[in-house]
Amino acid sequence: MTVQLGMPHPRGTAIPGTGASAQSGRPAGLPAGLVDRYGRRATDMRLSLTDKCNLRCTYCMPAEGLEWLSKQAVMSAEEIVRIVRIGVDMLGVRELRLTGGEPLVRADLLDIIAALRQAHPELPISMTTNGVGLDKKAAGLKAAGLSRINVSLDSLHEETFAQLTRRPFLNKVLAGVDAAWAAGLGPVKLNAVLMRGINDAESPALLAWALDRGYELRFIEQMPLDADHGWTRRNMITAAEIRQLLSADFVLGPDPRARDGAPAERFEVRRRMPGTAGTTGPVLGTVGIIASVTEPFCSDCRRTRITAEGKIMSCLFSRDEVDLLGLLREGASDEQLAGRWQDAMWIKPKAHGMDHVGLDAPDFVQPDRSMSAIGG
Ligand code: GTP
Ligand code: 5AD
Ligand code: SF4
Repeated sequence: MTVQLGMPHPRGTAIPGTGASAQSGRPAGLPAGLVDRYGRRATDMRLSLTDKCNLRCTYCMPAEGLEWLSKQAVMSAEEIVRIVRIGVDMLGVRELRLTGGEPLVRADLLDIIAALRQAHPELPISMTTNGVGLDKKAAGLKAAGLSRINVSLDSLHEETFAQLTRRPFLNKVLAGVDAAWAAGLGPVKLNAVLMRGINDAESPALLAWALDRGYELRFIEQMPLDADHGWTRRNMITAAEIRQLLSADFVLGPDPRARDGAPAERFEVRRRMPGTAGTTGPVLGTVGIIASVTEPFCSDCRRTRITAEGKIMSCLFSRDEVDLLGLLREGASDEQLAGRWQDAMWIKPKAHGMDHVGLDAPDFVQPDRSMSAIGG
């Protein structure tokens, strides 16, 4: 649902963050930036470049795909650059993640990255991709100014990969991951959503493979963000189960680095001596576990999201969206756009509420959008 926060901000050209807002109830005198009612400040901007995707992962998209947005409905390169500039120059955004759908399907991707890089020479700009076609594009992405990459990789078995993604593209993705590394887009991070009875048993092998190559793997609890509405709490592989599965081969210890509001809790990984509680030596690398459902991290959330059609989502699970692109196209000033963005973040929910008991009971209302229409 798109919520109306009113027309351009009545305070006109006031400096964002200092004026009160009648629309959202945001009081006057707050520090500038994207702050919310619970004292969080969003500095991590996630911007979706397209809702289209060339895979059909069962935990995200239906087999037949979704009805795509029209070209006109999606933010143009110029609009993206302006919105990012407002985020960075006026609202304290410190890092940018490009998402989709699948960002690589966007024809002007390199131009967008190059323009963003020109405008923000120091900004960390990363991208989450499914890796299809990345082998051919990795060097160009690096040259355009992309800093880093995250690739979805749920299985190393062709059949399992094809079952999960409904496409036979494992080899393309593996080539893409290696090309990203070779192009200097590291550290390469890999995302694996574990699905019961499909790829959960493969988790230690997947981790061994990633450690061997120096990639940082993250296991993700499946969230109820699939268009098929097939999610059930019972079927979800929990973080506790993931740790248990990995403990057959590995010993996980705390990572001393600060988490800094990241979804992933990181662990240092050592190999387990067969049949013992001991270890066989050095730290082999790290693994991340993203426990969105069972160990939520909302209280330290630093994310703000813009969908491909320019709606602000203060949370992955927002049922309320605020239209930024419409206001931009009406001719609003930078200050008015910044004010609306602040209003939208002010009403960010405290938490997603998924951790309460009975989530898969009939009264749980899943968000309208699937992950592909939000961006990971
Ligand atoms: P890096 O910045 O590359 O370390 O990644 P990250 O830790 O920020 O995680 P990333 O953006 O790659 O997100 C990985 C996965 O975490 C996503 O695909 C989502 O499944 C989940 N995720 C990301 N952001 C959020 C969030 O704000 N809330 C919840 N509940 N899950 C999230
Ligand atoms: N639950 C958890 N993670 C998901 N992703 C997509 N759908 C879901 C879901 N329902 C993750 C994928 C991808 C990223 C964009 O989002 O792993 O890497
Ligand atoms: Fe942040 Fe919402 Fe994700 Fe919680 S669910 S971490 S509040 S975006």
